[in-house]
Amino acid sequence: MTNSNDQAASLRNNSQGGSFGIKPKKSMCCIAVASGKGGVGKTFVTVNLAVTFARLGRKVLLVDADLGLANADIVLGVHTEFSMQDAIFKGKPLSEIVMHTKYGIDLISASSGSKEMMSLGSARMQMFINDLLAFASEYEVILFDCAAGIDSNVTSFLSAAPQSLIVTTPQPTAMMDVYALTKIIYQNGLSSNLNLLVNMTDNDRQGDAVAQTLNSVMQRYLSGRIDLVGCLPSTDLVNNALKRRMPFVALWEREIISVRFKQIATALLNRHEASEDRELKAENLMKGLINI
Ligand SMILES: Nc1ncnc2c1ncn2[C@@H]1O[C@H](COP(=O)(O)OP(=O)(O)OP(=O)(O)O)[C@@H](O)[C@H]1O
Ligand SMILES: [Mg+2]
Repeated sequence: MTNSNDQAASLRNNSQGGSFGIKPKKSMCCIAVASGKGGVGKTFVTVNLAVTFARLGRKVLLVDADLGLANADIVLGVHTEFSMQDAIFKGKPLSEIVMHTKYGIDLISASSGSKEMMSLGSARMQMFINDLLAFASEYEVILFDCAAGIDSNVTSFLSAAPQSLIVTTPQPTAMMDVYALTKIIYQNGLSSNLNLLVNMTDNDRQGDAVAQTLNSVMQRYLSGRIDLVGCLPSTDLVNNALKRRMPFVALWEREIISVRFKQIATALLNRHEASEDRELKAENLMKGLINI
């Protein structure tokens, strides 16, 4: 039986041969949405960003990599019957697992299965990675809705996706947890493009202040930075949309939050285009899937 380290090493060796490296089209933008603290709005942000990217004409895949309660399928009003496990263990084609939603985005769930995955032979694992990458390369934007915190699956998704979007609220505890997360990211060289979204603000000044505080601490202790891509106000409409099982941006196109999502999506696409690091890292993606 192989363990995950053996598998990672084998993947690394193979990726040097080029069979796992994916040279995405210039337009393929992968974003991992993460947070230090839970409940700050990652799933809300990921789903609404995904729908916004689709409205900007991009082909979007949302990977639900969180096994929490309020999952992306609930927010999108769909029921995911199959997960990546069915592809890995039952050989079900990914094209049959993906859910097409009426909002123009596709959704795939990455359920847990670490123990079983570890017992998977490396040849089978390699085949799955190749299938996964071929499948992923059909998309122009891929978003990972990660679990909260700094578990190894989260850090793997963060290092797989060239763009990271860290969501926080202005709460001091949430900010402290962002710092803890960015510290791990910097110390391990996990992500080159750190973007910040401040959710549930009272006003924009509060969001700017959060970004400033975080940046001054990060600059001082990590010689690092995180770029604010936008703030979203706190409003009861968000839970209203959740109750209706519809994405906010599909319900209230002209609300400030929907306008902001458009600006944030555009900023992320621009950052992606301007970045030298645009490659989805297959080895890290697989590590993330193994460790969920
Ligand atoms: N801007 C906002 N205004 C008001 N409520 C919000 C806002 N953003 C998110 N919420 C609400 O906060 C709650 C948590 O949101 P969500 O489930 O998206 O967080 P999460 O970070 O994905 O949580 P978890 O860490 O459990 O995965 C939900 O009830 C959501 O509707
Ligand atoms: Mg969530």
